[in-house]
Amino acid sequence: MTMTLPTDSLRRQALLPLRLFLGVTFCYAGLVKLGDPHYLAGAGDPASYLSQLQAALAQHSPAAPLLRLARHAPTVTGTALAFGELAVGLGTLLGLFGRMAAAGGAVLSLTLFLTVSWRTYPYFLGNDLAYLAAWTPLLLAGTPSLSLDAWLGARRSGRLASGESRRRAVLETGTAVLAVVGGGLLAGALTARSRGPVTGAAAPTGGQPGGPGGGPSGGPSGGGTATGVSVAVSKVPVGGAVQLSAPGSGDPIFVVQPKPGTFCAFSGACTHAGCTVLPPKDGAFVCPCHDSAFDAATGAVLRGPATQALPRHAVTRSGTDLRVAGKPE
Ligand code: FES
Repeated sequence: MTMTLPTDSLRRQALLPLRLFLGVTFCYAGLVKLGDPHYLAGAGDPASYLSQLQAALAQHSPAAPLLRLARHAPTVTGTALAFGELAVGLGTLLGLFGRMAAAGGAVLSLTLFLTVSWRTYPYFLGNDLAYLAAWTPLLLAGTPSLSLDAWLGARRSGRLASGESRRRAVLETGTAVLAVVGGGLLAGALTARSRGPVTGAAAPTGGQPGGPGGGPSGGPSGGGTATGVSVAVSKVPVGGAVQLSAPGSGDPIFVVQPKPGTFCAFSGACTHAGCTVLPPKDGAFVCPCHDSAFDAATGAVLRGPATQALPRHAVTRSGTDLRVAGKPE
């Protein structure tokens, strides 16, 4: 017995998983921005939209003229970006003006690539270029099945075939657009209303680097674990760092000597999305994924999108060796 797969039907649905993924992701991205108290907090907050605009400008983004314009009205452009992502996500999920939604998604991804991901090295660690590529099939094919576009198109054809005026079909499309736009605005407004106050997440968590103990009070740490890893004092350059692996987990740890005789250690896992930060340069750890920066002496956030300082590991000196706790404090 031979089994014939309905290849035509499968082909028609081939883009459905991609459409679902992009639709859900863009809705989520828009709502997360609208619900994030840091997003519109302004220049004092390293995780704010304005701080990220300024960071992209400082990195000579090729979209600098656009960014300078956006900087004049950060609340308006930041809100428009969040609602733009929500509109693209809803249009893609529901398949309403699917090609137009895909074009919007491609423009947003290109803009984010030229700004937020521009300095990501190597390029494949930045995800905006991948999103730009992912929009292309939907831009070419539109959303011809399981979509409001298909449903409205079938109804329009039926009405025209039965001699009804074009006006009713246009009214039907207009009603669908108004319903989706209204639903998106309502969801966005409710999310924005529910956001809490800005908390002090961008501040360092452990005070200034202490003495040889490295803890907030300069004494031996009470946190972390007894299990740790050792390194010779002579291996840690002043102003530089040596990278270690936490025993067991293998998590990256950087031991730094910000000034002669002062040692501290930080987790190398970026608090934004977990990429390993680069060794410190000019007093800062920089994350290669989305360009967050952390103070190499305190671990504090210097530039978002990260909002939490790098976790500190306790350091104790014993003669010519440093003992670093395997877990953060
Ligand atoms: S993982 Fe996103 S900035 Fe580090």
